[in-house]
Amino acid sequence: AQSIPVITIDGPTASGKGTIASLVAQRLGWHTLDSGALYRLTALSCLRRGVDVQDQAQVQQAAQNLNVRFDYPQIYMDGEDVTDAIRQEEVGNLASRVAALPLVREALLQRQRDFRVAPGLVGDGRDMGTVVFPDAPLKIFLLADAQVRAQRRCKQLSEKGISANLTSLLADLRERDERDRSRTHAPLVPAPGAHIVDSSQLSIQEVVDKVLDLWSGIAVPTA
Ligand code: CDP
Ligand code: CDP
Repeated sequence: AQSIPVITIDGPTASGKGTIASLVAQRLGWHTLDSGALYRLTALSCLRRGVDVQDQAQVQQAAQNLNVRFDYPQIYMDGEDVTDAIRQEEVGNLASRVAALPLVREALLQRQRDFRVAPGLVGDGRDMGTVVFPDAPLKIFLLADAQVRAQRRCKQLSEKGISANLTSLLADLRERDERDRSRTHAPLVPAPGAHIVDSSQLSIQEVVDKVLDLWSGIAVPTA
C-alpha cells in the first residue's frame, strides 16, 4: 500500500478539511477518508450504549467493535443512517474527548490505513500527516481564523436546518481546538514538511486549486 499516493489534510475544526478533501479527491478520482467521522462514530456509540468516556477500556471496545459503512456522503452504523446524528456539536465535543485516549487511537489506526486503496487517497483529520500516513507525498495543514470558522460552521448548520448560535459555536470550537492541540497523543500540529494554507480569505475553489497545484508539482516533477 505504501506506493499508493496519499494527500493528507489536517487542521482545526471547520477549517474546510472535509470539503476540500472531497473536492480534491473528486478531481483526482481518488478515495476519501473522513477520519474525524470514526471518532464521532465512537463517541455516538458510547452515548447510545451508555459507556462512560472516562473508562478507556470500554471506549476502546466501542472503537474496536464499530460496525460502520461509509457510502459517502452517507454514513451508517449498525445499519442506521447516522450521517446527521454524528454532526451534532455534542457528538463532536465528545469525539475530541475520546480522541485523547491513546488506546482508542490505536484501535482506529489500522481501520484508517485500510482506506489507502488505488488509485489514491485524500485523508482529512488531525494526525493524517503525523501518525496515520507519515509517508504521504503531500501534506496540507489547513488553517482559518476562529471567527471565520465559527461563521462557516454556523452557516453550514443553518443550511441543514439545524439551529446554531454563533457565540456558543465559537466557544465550543475554541475548547475543542485547545483540547486537540494540547493532548499528549497525536496532538493537532503540522506534520514535518506540511504546507500551511490559511484559508481565512480564500474561497473553496482557491483552496482546491492550491492543493491541486501542489500535487501536480509533485506528481509530474519538472526536470
Ligand atoms: O472538515 P472541517 O470541519 O474542517 O470543515 P468543513 O465541514 O469541510 O467546512 C466547513 C464549512 O466551511 C463548509 O460549509 C464549507 O463550505 C465552508 N468553507 C470552506 O470549507 N472553505 C472555504 N475556503 C470557505 C468556506
Ligand atoms: O469536522 P470537525 O473538524 O469539527 O471535526 P472532525 O474532523 O469530525 O473531528 C472530530 C474530533 O475527532 C476532533 O475534535 C478531534 O478531537 C478528533 N479527531 C482526531 O483526534 N484525529 C483525527 N484524525 C480526526 C479527528
